[in-house]
Amino acid sequence: MTRKLTAFTLAGVLAALSLVGLAAAETSPDNAIKYRKAVMSVVGGNMSALVMIAKGEVEHAAALAPHAQMLAETSELSLAAFRQNTDGQGREKTTAIAKVWGDWDDFEKGMEAFTEEANKLASMAEAGDMDGLRSQIGALGKTCKDCHDDFRSK
Ligand code: HEC
Repeated sequence: MTRKLTAFTLAGVLAALSLVGLAAAETSPDNAIKYRKAVMSVVGGNMSALVMIAKGEVEHAAALAPHAQMLAETSELSLAAFRQNTDGQGREKTTAIAKVWGDWDDFEKGMEAFTEEANKLASMAEAGDMDGLRSQIGALGKTCKDCHDDFRSK
């Protein structure tokens, strides 16, 4: 009984220590900024590739659905990538303004709109609905622009 209790307590202490370890390894502002720009670049890259295919500028029709799917997936990563408030911190160049964290609820709504439209686009691409797809790319692009207008410095 006593031995069991000791083992249990030890596990508790170890768990607490590892939590402290995690807290100590907090992400630096520069890395937080670099990471979210990397995520946003993946979003931007997929969007550019998708638009080129939709416009017929390149012959990669089979890649349309995967690009749309990747947009839906990266949209899910985007909100978390901005969670750490880096306002006024770090040396890494950033265009995110303080309003991102000051108006987090609105920012979150913007990301949700992005996810919603990206998911619609992915279903249309999967179904090969080319007419729907063109207008849906516009609807998705509007969610990028709306947020960038509000939450990025020019
Ligand atoms: C809810 C807000 C929001 C949405 C939606 C959003 N973005 Fe962004 N995006 C940002 C912010 C804020 C930054 C600035 C990040 C920084 O500089 O730290 C950014 C930066 C970027 C960058 C520049 C990354 C870099 O390397 O500096 C690209 C490219 C980009 N977004 C593309 C897109 C595309 C394409 C979409 C839509 C499919 C989109 N974003 C949707 C908020 C958003």
